[in-house]
Amino acid sequence: MYSLNNIDIKQFLSQYWQKKPLVIKQGFADFIDPLDENDLAGLSQEPSVDSRIVSKTLESWQVSHGPFEDINQYCLGAWSLLVQSVDHFIPEADELMRAFDFIPHWRMDDLMVSFSNKQAGVGPHLDQYDVFIIQGKGSRRWQVGLPGNFESVRPHKDLSQITGFEPVIDQVLLPGDIIYIPANHPHNGEALEECLNYSVGFRAPSQQEMLSSLADYAIDNELFNERYTDKELVLRDFSGEIKLQEVARFRLMLQQLLETDQFSNWTAQFLSQSVEKQEFEEQDIQQFTDQEIAEKLKTGVQFFRSPGIKAVFVEQQSSSIQEFIFYIQGEAFSVPLEDKELVIDFLNCPIFHLKNANVYQSSIFFTQLVTTLVNSGYWYPDD
Ligand code: SIN
Ligand code: CO
Repeated sequence: MYSLNNIDIKQFLSQYWQKKPLVIKQGFADFIDPLDENDLAGLSQEPSVDSRIVSKTLESWQVSHGPFEDINQYCLGAWSLLVQSVDHFIPEADELMRAFDFIPHWRMDDLMVSFSNKQAGVGPHLDQYDVFIIQGKGSRRWQVGLPGNFESVRPHKDLSQITGFEPVIDQVLLPGDIIYIPANHPHNGEALEECLNYSVGFRAPSQQEMLSSLADYAIDNELFNERYTDKELVLRDFSGEIKLQEVARFRLMLQQLLETDQFSNWTAQFLSQSVEKQEFEEQDIQQFTDQEIAEKLKTGVQFFRSPGIKAVFVEQQSSSIQEFIFYIQGEAFSVPLEDKELVIDFLNCPIFHLKNANVYQSSIFFTQLVTTLVNSGYWYPDD
């Protein structure tokens, strides 16, 4: 279990989140790395894992993309192996990410893990996303500045760096220390010795990504089929001219769809997608019957949420709603309102076990839901 120390969450949210960088010394006391460089190298061999090696020799930079059959040939000079979404593959890495649960699930992206040798790093740069970087074994010097206009440089086509930022933080991080870097704050980390770093990344979808996903959702679900009408059509001088009130009518048509329940449903569906479909397809998921799951629930067996899975739902405003709907991996599940509390408890607990078997006896529905979630690979029972 990883639990955060030396941070006042309320104060962090009000004063630092998306505002200012912060070093949290010994955020994790007696930090134990959830993996080592061999695990990381092993992951980088997998075709479904996104990995890269950034290396620097006499000021010439190289970037190589995985999968790597033999990483040694790419590890030249000062080099870092960076692997994305490690939380999807290693339960202990997922546990580390959960320590940051005070930020909503759907805002989290993935855990990127890097291993660097002495003097390695990816150079000074900006990221569009907020990040907590945890220092694992070894030590690394971190410099972080404030947003500004920086000259961008591309020492390699896949490496975007900047020059000339003034650090407002310049510190050496030791195992268990954490640095929080808000989006668009320039930063540079240079390994002082062999070291591991864990980056808890957050996502912030752009309008473009939202529109693209909303369009897919509309097509898949046959939504938003209302057509433009213009009973009030008037004569104009140029047949190519679009009147301002006609532009306004287009705007209104789009605004109207934003007010619908389907728009809220799309939001939850969109934000529930985290693990690549391919990662699930590669799994051999053990199947259970309702009776087997019922027996496990009754006897207090633990159910583990699979790494990377996010169950997302929209806060309910209207009391007229008859069911509770949540989404996992873009799939909608609906639950009768009387089961809502128990289901939310189940979804929120990374490790769930039924504390009161009587509750389960009253809900066959809950058993069926757990069976479906387990048979989909989203949760798995303890053996
Ligand atoms: C890392 O090298 O582990 C982090 C790179 C970054 O600054 O984003
Ligand atoms: Co960065």
